[in-house]
Amino acid sequence: MSRLSIFPDHPPDVDSTFSEPVLVSDDPQTIQQELHGRGIGFERWPVRSSVPQGADQATVLQAFSADVKRVMTEAGHVSVDVLRVTPSHPDRTSLRRRFLSEHTHAEDEVRFFVEGRGLFCLHIGGEVLAVLCERDDLIHIPAGTRHWFDVGEQPQFCVLRFHGTNAEWLATFTGDPIAERFPKLE
Ligand SMILES: [Fe+2]
Repeated sequence: MSRLSIFPDHPPDVDSTFSEPVLVSDDPQTIQQELHGRGIGFERWPVRSSVPQGADQATVLQAFSADVKRVMTEAGHVSVDVLRVTPSHPDRTSLRRRFLSEHTHAEDEVRFFVEGRGLFCLHIGGEVLAVLCERDDLIHIPAGTRHWFDVGEQPQFCVLRFHGTNAEWLATFTGDPIAERFPKLE
């Protein structure tokens, strides 16, 4: 189940390393409202029973073609692809480590979960919003938003990735070790 947890971005006192959440919600409407209020897009798409587990890229894109077209038009994206990572992926450890530290992108990060799950943590103002995205969730993180992403030790997900005009997907790391103080994807 999708879940939003909102934390203060700093510990309550110097002896603490961990902040308690001020809000935890599994309710899609609450998640959407809280994220929209902070400039983050979040949608739950209708279930497509026509997409079997492990479907190939063409089948996935065909099944979601109407929503894909709408999102690309709204956000001005020029392409979309499908990324699937499983626990047997040979690069799963380096893939996990790559985006586990706080970073930003020059383009919006827009992901739709076809299968599996992933944890986006967004550092906005004085808060960290941990968004556990699962199947049928779309998240739209504006360019320049500080965030990190965890797929867990045994990654299992398939996402649609929407791309703008930059050919290369680059991250600019902030150097802030903040991600180390927050829960990972179990
Ligand atoms: Fe990112």
